[in-house]
Amino acid sequence: MKQLYGVIGCPIHHSLSPLMHNDAFQTLGIDAHYHAFYVEKEALPAAIEGIKALGIAGINVTIPHKTAVIALLDSVDETAKRIGAVNTIVRENDRLIGYNTDGPGFVRALIEETNTMIQGKRILLIGAGGAARGIYFSLATAQAEQIDICNRTKEKAEQLIEESDILVSGRAYSLIEAEERLSQYDIIINTTSVGLSPNVDAMPLSLDHLNERTIVSDIIYNPLETKWLKEARKKGAIVQNGVGMFVYQGALAFEKWTGVFPDVERMKQVVIQQLG
Ligand code: ATR
Repeated sequence: MKQLYGVIGCPIHHSLSPLMHNDAFQTLGIDAHYHAFYVEKEALPAAIEGIKALGIAGINVTIPHKTAVIALLDSVDETAKRIGAVNTIVRENDRLIGYNTDGPGFVRALIEETNTMIQGKRILLIGAGGAARGIYFSLATAQAEQIDICNRTKEKAEQLIEESDILVSGRAYSLIEAEERLSQYDIIINTTSVGLSPNVDAMPLSLDHLNERTIVSDIIYNPLETKWLKEARKKGAIVQNGVGMFVYQGALAFEKWTGVFPDVERMKQVVIQQLG
């Protein structure tokens, strides 16, 4: 019988997940379909019940439900609990289990696409919101040497650092403080929405003090290369856009559902073609 998968969120009509997952199902000859479901905040509990009632095999969860969904699931894995967000639900018999593949997806993409190791690296995260949390805990688990966080609202960066019970050193900075220290980092990651279409001229941080060969990563994939990444490239940095994180979070979810790790290069092409 054809298995049904999907993503719940609002807004949802621009989601590239159906295209990416359906292409992977087709390529692998798996009899399944992935659908985008528009679910408003108030409808979340009913939607989760619906997953069980309809026998949907797996669901991705996106804005605005990633945190609220935790209380509605039968169990949540440790990484997702620590991050405080679930983006992937797996149905096992009559139980719904929550996972987070966003943070792990980012780290996997970073390792594969920049051919680097996280272990021993000094890292600067820009932003202290939901996306930053997932990336922060996943990088810490991957044994980064130091993770500093800078944010427009410095207190939020301080809170995130304080909350970490993992052995990783790091400090909180304002954006201006971080700009002065840029040359000290091996990897710099923008987790904010600054530079996202249509505000394509905005930049999260000045790159005046950037060293050549620093890895500069932006989780934004629309535009494919933000103005900030373009500038980093001009300064001789190794740059990475947000397509990798998007594709790898999807690939890790796909693997949890089907037991098969899909062809990520093909998934990237599908996504880039659509964005192009
Ligand atoms: P997400 O889940 O995508 O991370 P979020 O939780 O709303 O979204 O977090 C957005 C992040 O982008 C925050 O770090 C936010 O900074 P504040 O904590 O100061 O709000 C940052 N951000 C959003 N717009 C920004 C802007 N115009 N300038 C600087 N930082 C911005």
